[in-house]
Amino acid sequence: MDDIGEVLFSARSFDEYRAMFALMDGDLTGRVLDCPGGAASFTAEALDRGVDAVAVDPRYADDRALLAELAGRDTVRGNDFLRDPVRATRFVWTYFDSPDDHLAQRGEAARRFAADLGRSGRSGRSGRSGRYVAAALPQLPFADSNFDLVLSSHFLFTYAERLDLAFHGAALRELHRVCRGQVRVFPLLGHTDGRPYSELDAVRHRLDRFGVGSEIRRVDYEFQAGGDQMLVLHRASPHQRD
Ligand SMILES: C[S@@+](CC[C@H](N)C(=O)[O-])C[C@H]1O[C@@H](n2cnc3c(N)ncnc32)[C@H](O)[C@@H]1O
Repeated sequence: MDDIGEVLFSARSFDEYRAMFALMDGDLTGRVLDCPGGAASFTAEALDRGVDAVAVDPRYADDRALLAELAGRDTVRGNDFLRDPVRATRFVWTYFDSPDDHLAQRGEAARRFAADLGRSGRSGRSGRSGRYVAAALPQLPFADSNFDLVLSSHFLFTYAERLDLAFHGAALRELHRVCRGQVRVFPLLGHTDGRPYSELDAVRHRLDRFGVGSEIRRVDYEFQAGGDQMLVLHRASPHQRD
């Protein structure tokens, strides 16, 4: 099996999130959770645009200077992974036109994340503190229905070889619990083999039994070949349940 090793602390930009999750301006008018946020600059850039955004990642418990270093190192590690000539054929080079472009864009996102994380730690920077919360799925430190939109990219389904069906079910229910609107999860593929998550039907059925409705939607973004779909969770209407 082709394994990237430790879960990447990866850095996608606001623009990449917008494409992956098919976000329209109207989707970002309420309170938004990015879980896991990793080294993505989504929250930093969303805050700059006046969006009420919060990011969660277990790594945020670590020292901020170390996280800035890790963001840079993992940007290079992720880029090295896809420079391998065989692996490169499993990616679609349209959003990024080349591995160099991928490195440049992800590097810029990592720098923006690190700068914002640094600002969020300083007192007196109103609006920035409390934006990077250290926590791990399947348990989040938020009240029910706290967010209008929850985004989850490149953790669930992506690392399916090490996270089982029970974990996926519990994590998705937790994301749904803290959300009063939609939960969007992208992509629906594993990073090791690029294959669709084999237990998607099973996990959707499990969610449905708990009153969590779901649908699969195509998006206009594809970097991993075949990775152009997201899972959307919403409140199920009674007739959708068994
Ligand atoms: C590949 S990154 C994705 C980051 C970001 N969403 C992006 O797309 O760039 C995966 C992240 O999952 C985080 N992670 C690992 N275990 C987790 C857990 N139990 N709950 C939430 N996040 C976790 C890692 O620390 C890492 O930052």
